[in-house]
Amino acid sequence: MIDIHSHLIFDTDDGPSTIKESIRMVLEAEKIGIKTIIATPHYKKNVFNIDNAEKNFKELLIRLADCDIELRLGYEVFVESLLLDCIDNKRIFTLNNSQYLLFELPFDVYPANTVDIILNLHLENIIPIIAHPERHIYFQRDFGKFLGLIEAGCMVQLDAGSIMGIHGRKSKAFCKKVLKLGLAQFIASDAHSAKDYTNLFLPSYHKVVKWVGTDYAESLYRRNQELIFR
Ligand SMILES: [Fe+2]
Repeated sequence: MIDIHSHLIFDTDDGPSTIKESIRMVLEAEKIGIKTIIATPHYKKNVFNIDNAEKNFKELLIRLADCDIELRLGYEVFVESLLLDCIDNKRIFTLNNSQYLLFELPFDVYPANTVDIILNLHLENIIPIIAHPERHIYFQRDFGKFLGLIEAGCMVQLDAGSIMGIHGRKSKAFCKKVLKLGLAQFIASDAHSAKDYTNLFLPSYHKVVKWVGTDYAESLYRRNQELIFR
């Protein structure tokens, strides 16, 4: 399995505060069979310190040099930030310096210009991936709004925790519907602590196999992620 969304860098966002906890997360992920993780701290302009994140990531790489798991860097970018400082420099915010960019929307209000942002990213040869749409009330209420993002060329990443029901019944039902329709490409941990791997990510795989079968599950947890490394 490959995890493309994880808050494992210590002292960076709402993930672990110490390097010890970061290491525990990676070891736990390794234990459940994950081969590669892309660390994706929340990027928000004027809030996030990119130099600090990169420094801590490098420190983690050194401490985990003997570990079999491969760690890469990416970001989970707040959609507003795409309109601001990184507009001419989006490539540095992509997953593992690929064409794929993971972004998140605000939880309260749906930004009216979201589709335009997606289309503009495509013009710059960047493929956007929306993080956890199932957790947004405006998509739960209006499935057509969500479909509009896909029509604009957005890929879809669901959270393992939502599949396991930790974000509520509606998020879980949304995941099931999206998966049954074959509309998602990725499932990721969105882990903030070690237990998220053991208690959520691994059990979510088994649930997804039950819902949609092994073949699609393999695409959602590994095969599509390999595109990011090609
Ligand atoms: Fe996240």
